[in-house]
Amino acid sequence: MSDLAGYFPDASIMAGRIDALLLALTLVSVLVVGGIMAVIVWFAFRYRRGSPAARGPAPSRSRTLEVVWITVPLVVFLIIFVWAAMLYLELRSPPADALAINVVAKQWMWKVQHPGGQREINELHVPVGRPIKLVMTSQDVIHSLFVPAFRVKQDVLPGRYTTLWFEPSREGEYPLLCAEFCGTDHSGMTGRVVVMAPQDYDQWLERNPGAGTLAQQGEVVYRRHGCSGCHGESATVHAPGLAGIYGRRASLEDGGTVMVDEGYIRDSILRPASEVVAGYPPIMPSYQGQLDEEEILALVAYIRSLADREEAAP
Ligand code: CUA
Repeated sequence: MSDLAGYFPDASIMAGRIDALLLALTLVSVLVVGGIMAVIVWFAFRYRRGSPAARGPAPSRSRTLEVVWITVPLVVFLIIFVWAAMLYLELRSPPADALAINVVAKQWMWKVQHPGGQREINELHVPVGRPIKLVMTSQDVIHSLFVPAFRVKQDVLPGRYTTLWFEPSREGEYPLLCAEFCGTDHSGMTGRVVVMAPQDYDQWLERNPGAGTLAQQGEVVYRRHGCSGCHGESATVHAPGLAGIYGRRASLEDGGTVMVDEGYIRDSILRPASEVVAGYPPIMPSYQGQLDEEEILALVAYIRSLADREEAAP
């Protein structure tokens, strides 16, 4: 099922499957509504004034009828539930090898940062046939990133990261919209996704070099704010090292554990006292207000890049 008869182009591997679910839901709804309407019309005709139809007391009960009207809808709805839940879980779980691209929304534009340091505004260039994970946050109010051709939409919130993933299946340009009213120019907060052949995407990356990779930009922020004074190898302060922490579970002071992902690293920088790693005193100051969203994303990319290295953070 492609393109829904040409009206809604589909350009991701999930789009056809989402359309199939939507069509099935619509079909079931039409059958139910159509059936009820037909019965209403039939009854209105049969029991019209002056008709000879029987008007005696209704039969007290019919076990067969009860079993049928309980079982059939139950089975139909359970099938739809399981079908939708499986699709939803898949949509919420980005593949581990997905290419992570950062998006910062603000009134009224989309700012995109690629891992190689390339930046763009209101445009998102991606290669075809590769899973893409967007790590998104907002600098001001709630926005929502919507790409109809991929059948994906996700709220973008200030103060936390939300993620979205898709795998483009077809080259071309597709509209990108804000789907949450966010102020005066909400309707103008649009852009486009450009899906390119992998070699074209590589060329595009080369033609648009940023100021170093995102991780390198993060290292600059790391040094400028003196993070190494505590987290560096030669630091005298008792603070956890940062190499290799990304993607692992960390034990917390309160006995729980937490997955060290983008969101946890962000929280640790802005609200360090909220989830303290076991064995360390809660002495880190908050960097709330000192770093903007793009700097925090760069720091996260830097700490993430340390995960691949053996040695400790410098
Ligand atoms: Cu951003 Cu509407």
